[in-house]
Amino acid sequence: MMNQKKIAGEKACEWIKDGMIVGLGTGSTVYYTIEKLGDMVAKGLQITGVATSEETAKQAEKLGIPLKSLNDVTEIDVTIDGADEIDADFQGIKGGGGALLREKMVANASLKNIWVVSEEKLVRNLGEFPLPLEVIPFGWKQIQRELEKDDIETNLRKQSSGEVYVTNNGNYILDIVNQTFTDTAMWQEKLAQIPGVVEHGLFLDYVDMIICGKANGEIELIKK
Ligand code: 5RP
Repeated sequence: MMNQKKIAGEKACEWIKDGMIVGLGTGSTVYYTIEKLGDMVAKGLQITGVATSEETAKQAEKLGIPLKSLNDVTEIDVTIDGADEIDADFQGIKGGGGALLREKMVANASLKNIWVVSEEKLVRNLGEFPLPLEVIPFGWKQIQRELEKDDIETNLRKQSSGEVYVTNNGNYILDIVNQTFTDTAMWQEKLAQIPGVVEHGLFLDYVDMIICGKANGEIELIKK
């Protein structure tokens, strides 16, 4: 079967030109973008990457893609990233890989955001995929209890070893399960107001173009 992630991820490289500052997302789809960018850099393409996670920084460094920190760039020309779910209004859930905070900061600093996905990520309503909240470890149970009062169920994210998952920023993740996010603006406001929630995985009005890899090998470009 066609590798939908690979065809979508590699296609995104067509939007990268000499001299650009490029936001490098995190995950198994943008992995292919970064691999291909590594080839292009080896053949002479001159870009500077801004990585959204330590994992991505490691991959880029190995491939010889020069990196700068977000602090050291004034803006980013294009960011390419994956997504966990996208609805028909171009709203998305991200953070399945735990990098939502850095991903959102990088997306916010970018002139253009491209998401690379396989077709099952396109959904009618957001919420089948758990919505991550990055929370301060101090008092995380209090956040969980506060959400429970509103019938919002969360799971503390764990690694396969059973250890608590810790983000690159030293925080925990509470995944909201069994919810459908139709009024996304309301949810955004509600979640942003909870003390101790550093960031949530709703990415509203960020993406400019989606590159979708299909099982039949076709690539669909969905523009806003
Ligand atoms: C990481 C993310 C990823 O972009 C998202 O989870 C999609 O990953 P993949 O391409 O592996 O399905 O938000 O925090």
